[in-house]
Amino acid sequence: MPVKIANQKKVIAALNKALAWELRASAMYAHYAAYVKGLESLHLAPLFKREAGESIGHADKVRTMIAELGGQAVTDRDPTPILHTEDPRQMVQEALKTERKAAQHYSAIVPMAKAYYPHFHTLVHIQKEEMDAVVEFENLLAV
Ligand SMILES: [Fe+2]
Repeated sequence: MPVKIANQKKVIAALNKALAWELRASAMYAHYAAYVKGLESLHLAPLFKREAGESIGHADKVRTMIAELGGQAVTDRDPTPILHTEDPRQMVQEALKTERKAAQHYSAIVPMAKAYYPHFHTLVHIQKEEMDAVVEFENLLAV
């Protein structure tokens, strides 16, 4: 039996948007980790690999929630194109855009998922990790 919560359908729909975005993020970071060259690659390749892993981890948690709520989890990534570039600064700019959007997704989910105990806590934690990533990429770009 699926878990029943307030705003069930809205929460499932919002979780699916976040999941599609995580799938896109993991593909983007894995791609940039493979193409980053030069001195920047010393720190950016491991950072992109870590972010790819974090996105897979978030996707895993969100997918499990959707299944528990009786929803059908998406398997395709968000269709927003992933910019191919070999310019490290442009990669970091794309990473910042991606993390800002991810943070927006979880900021929309958290207020409507308050009744989803105990996963509400997990969602807040993911939201915090997205916000930490935004700050990290802002610092790299010095913006
Ligand atoms: Fe994420």
